Amino acid sequence: MTEPGLRQRKKDSSETSATPKNVTHAGGDKISSLGNLYVWVLLGAGLLIYQFPNIAKAPLRLFLGQSGRDTHLPGVRPNSVSTFSADIPKRDAVVEAFKHAWLAYERDAMGDDEYHPFSHTGSNLTAAGGIGYTVADSIDTMLIMGLDDEYQRARTWVAEKLSFDRDAEFNTFETTIRVMGGLLAAYHLSDQDHLFLEKAQELADRILPTFETDSGLPLSLVNLGLKEGVPDMDNNGMVSTAEVATLQLEFRYLAHLTDEDIYWEKAERVMAVLRAARMPHGLASIFLSPKEGRFMTASIRLGSRGDSYYEYLIKQYLQTNQTEDVYREMYDDAMTGIHNYLVQTSISSKLIYTAELNPERTGQGELGWRLTPKQDHLVCFLGGSLMLGATTSGALLHPVSVPPRLEELSEVGKRDWKTGVELVKTCMATHETATGLSPEIVHFRMPGDEVENYAASKGNMPSDWYIKGSKPGHPPSLDARYILRPETVESLFLAFRLTGDTQYRDQGWAIFQAIEKHCRVDSGGYASVKNVDQVPVEHEDKMETFLMSETLKYLYLLFADASVLPLSEYVFNTEAHPFPVFNPSFRTGFS
Ligand SMILES: *[C@@H]1O[C@H](CO)[C@@H](O)[C@H](O)[C@H]1NC(C)=O
Ligand SMILES: *[C@@H]1O[C@H](CO)[C@@H](O)[C@H](O)[C@H]1NC(C)=O
Repeated sequence: MTEPGLRQRKKDSSETSATPKNVTHAGGDKISSLGNLYVWVLLGAGLLIYQFPNIAKAPLRLFLGQSGRDTHLPGVRPNSVSTFSADIPKRDAVVEAFKHAWLAYERDAMGDDEYHPFSHTGSNLTAAGGIGYTVADSIDTMLIMGLDDEYQRARTWVAEKLSFDRDAEFNTFETTIRVMGGLLAAYHLSDQDHLFLEKAQELADRILPTFETDSGLPLSLVNLGLKEGVPDMDNNGMVSTAEVATLQLEFRYLAHLTDEDIYWEKAERVMAVLRAARMPHGLASIFLSPKEGRFMTASIRLGSRGDSYYEYLIKQYLQTNQTEDVYREMYDDAMTGIHNYLVQTSISSKLIYTAELNPERTGQGELGWRLTPKQDHLVCFLGGSLMLGATTSGALLHPVSVPPRLEELSEVGKRDWKTGVELVKTCMATHETATGLSPEIVHFRMPGDEVENYAASKGNMPSDWYIKGSKPGHPPSLDARYILRPETVESLFLAFRLTGDTQYRDQGWAIFQAIEKHCRVDSGGYASVKNVDQVPVEHEDKMETFLMSETLKYLYLLFADASVLPLSEYVFNTEAHPFPVFNPSFRTGFS
């Protein structure tokens, strides 16, 4: 967390114990294939060592036991289906919020990568100069909201000022999803304004050298000026799973637009390596070796460094109009692993959540896996993602009804739908705080937990979960923050489009009002909150770029007419940039 380029990372800012220093190496510096085998044979035993009563299959059984009797899918309430027409006052309130954010940034920091609303200044990711981090990330939202004047000024900035000739190291993944993704969506939504495609392609060409490793897995960092991949030595040169597997929608769409195979091949190669490296049980650890193309013994989780790997499995399948079965197979395999090992039920309110597995030495020096009941806010993408997967990959016919009917989904589809609905509910439960905002990380109580863990948090915390390390009278832990993240409203948007159930609009509106009340800065912009369970709030002087690209976009779409960016025609990249579904003209798929 020392280099400027690294501090900006979105997906790992919540990282706590699972730093690379904790990547356990089985016997020496390098994991041998024998070492790997040994580790994985022990996975089952490790789970037994750290066994808890409600582990793994219990939630599944609970679900399957019910499914025969239901006539409706869970989460589908009869008579709750709205007309899908826009809720105009609420939609317009979100547009007003976007303008409050954008106009302050434009006034104080136009062109800078990031914005600090209290000091009224901007900053760049590196001293070599900005790369349009905020501008490129925000343009498609302006186009979707119909903000023509703002759009024209942003376009002029891209035409006249945007440069990628910066001799400094940038995060490969963040630059791809935010800047390249933003430019590609702007190209599509502006009716093919070529400026955006040229800029996106120039950026892609500067990123391509990162893929030149022994395995084909891209390096974590890129020097955009020198056009060189740079290993991330903070992580021993290892690459994270989410980062290498969350470039595919962008590079594949660029290949489709330009007819250049190279973008397709580089992105697809990564997926072939991941498939070949498959770990037993369908699980994926969060680090890979770019030399050998193998998973390292590291945490297994759906939060930082893991999250969007799963998101992009289903979305790659959807991007090419459900023509590439390999992604559907990889997705199903991963979801089964998640259900078998990570899906848990909380002890009193029976909330469904996902835990993490962390490698750990036993007293005898053997490797086991400790189940940690920790869920990042980042994991809240998964509820909506599972519902989307259930109605496509898990459907017996296409398209399914809205809401889907029980008989339209396969057994796996029903399983994923139910878990998805429950996870959205759980994420809403993590908003039951003094501010109505949810923290960066929650821990769930386990049977036999020391009481002090949660007694230490404030009295109004629900008993099922708590914010670790948050004690009254002490500075709040980093887990207690809300940094304007989108994942819960992203799931609410998907859940609403797939069910038409107005409860999801109501929940999204409650979150929007909490953001307005606690994050809005009077003089312009929005700021992160240091402790979601304390009022009045203390702020952090930062407005993350994903507020304008994701959080406000998904809220807008939640209240917009459902014909705006229909899910049957678009996939959203992990930064909420929409790309159209297409039938590929490339050779695709691999085995
Ligand atoms: C960010 O980089 C741009 C381009 O080099 C530069 O014009 C601007 O002054 C920089 N902003 C800050 C705050 O350093
Ligand atoms: C996707 O495939 C269906 C047929 O399976 C076809 O009707 C539809 O036009 C395709 N969509 C696109 C965007 O190519």
